[in-house]
Amino acid sequence: MHQSFFVTSGEQVELARDEITSIAKSYDKKAVIKSDSRLVTVRSKIPYTKIAPRATFVKISGTLIGTVTGITQIRVPVAKPSSFACRVVNLSTKTVSSLHLEKEIGTILKQKWNSKVSLSNPHVTVYLIVTNLRKYMGYSKRQVEPKRPEKLLKYPHELDSNLARCMVNLSGLKQGQTLCDPFCGTGTILLEAESMGINAIGIDFDPEMCGITKRNLALNGFKSCVINAGYHDIKKMMGKIDAIVTDLPYGISSKSSMEPQRLVKDFVSAIPKKKKLVMVYKKGFDVAIKAKKYEIYRHKSLTRVIVSR
Ligand SMILES: C[S@@+](CC[C@H](N)C(=O)[O-])C[C@H]1O[C@@H](n2cnc3c(N)ncnc32)[C@H](O)[C@@H]1O
Repeated sequence: MHQSFFVTSGEQVELARDEITSIAKSYDKKAVIKSDSRLVTVRSKIPYTKIAPRATFVKISGTLIGTVTGITQIRVPVAKPSSFACRVVNLSTKTVSSLHLEKEIGTILKQKWNSKVSLSNPHVTVYLIVTNLRKYMGYSKRQVEPKRPEKLLKYPHELDSNLARCMVNLSGLKQGQTLCDPFCGTGTILLEAESMGINAIGIDFDPEMCGITKRNLALNGFKSCVINAGYHDIKKMMGKIDAIVTDLPYGISSKSSMEPQRLVKDFVSAIPKKKKLVMVYKKGFDVAIKAKKYEIYRHKSLTRVIVSR
């Protein structure tokens, strides 16, 4: 069993925790997830290195050693690294003398390992994470940042790539499974899905959007399929898709085949209740659907709602 920790950015605490939960459970249904402030801990069959590169809102991650009451109890189960650093992450409401604590932990580990300290590019980083409830110890090894997909141009109606990634993760899909985005626009959701090894099919009724998506996919060497059709065509492929992840038109800069609020209702009624669905629409276009909802404030005239069923 692996014990992992994830410190999230604090932008969207609930969404960040649920994203980590979905990723962990996609690999191990019995994963146990707990949270304490912005810290999420996971006990599962998979290591943090499988979850962290996918999770959008994770700032720091690593192997959880456990909770401690004092730093003299520090035990880091790692063979002498070539270099190391110590970091204190204060998630509590109290003031913590981080620099002092980092030096103290550093001295203990220096005696144990006799490795050099590297603050800029350590081989191992040891963390003391302080919340209002507990102190946690963990460590991580040097990691390569995941390569994120690129786009040829930016468009005003495109979905923020972090939100797109998070939505793909909320679908609970893992490598080799297939999602469909029936309102694919410039292809943001397809790009994020394929960058994580998830197969994707895009549909858009606007041939210009289909062309843009194809070019964006080609730029990244991706091979997701793009179909120029209305979203009702999704019914023809329902058997071969594991989830639907989509961003519905909301009336700004993107075309819509019907009044956007009506379209949301019509779309939801066309999707079988048992099919995993993650969608985002404009607040105010709400539909009666039993699902978890997250509000994302954009600016004073636009709040978006992510719905995950
Ligand atoms: C909000 S945009 C999607 C943006 C996309 N997520 C991105 O990042 O570029 C909605 C898309 O739905 C498409 N659309 C509108 N009505 C449609 C319909 N009836 N069937 C399929 N696509 C439709 C529009 O052409 C538009 O590209």
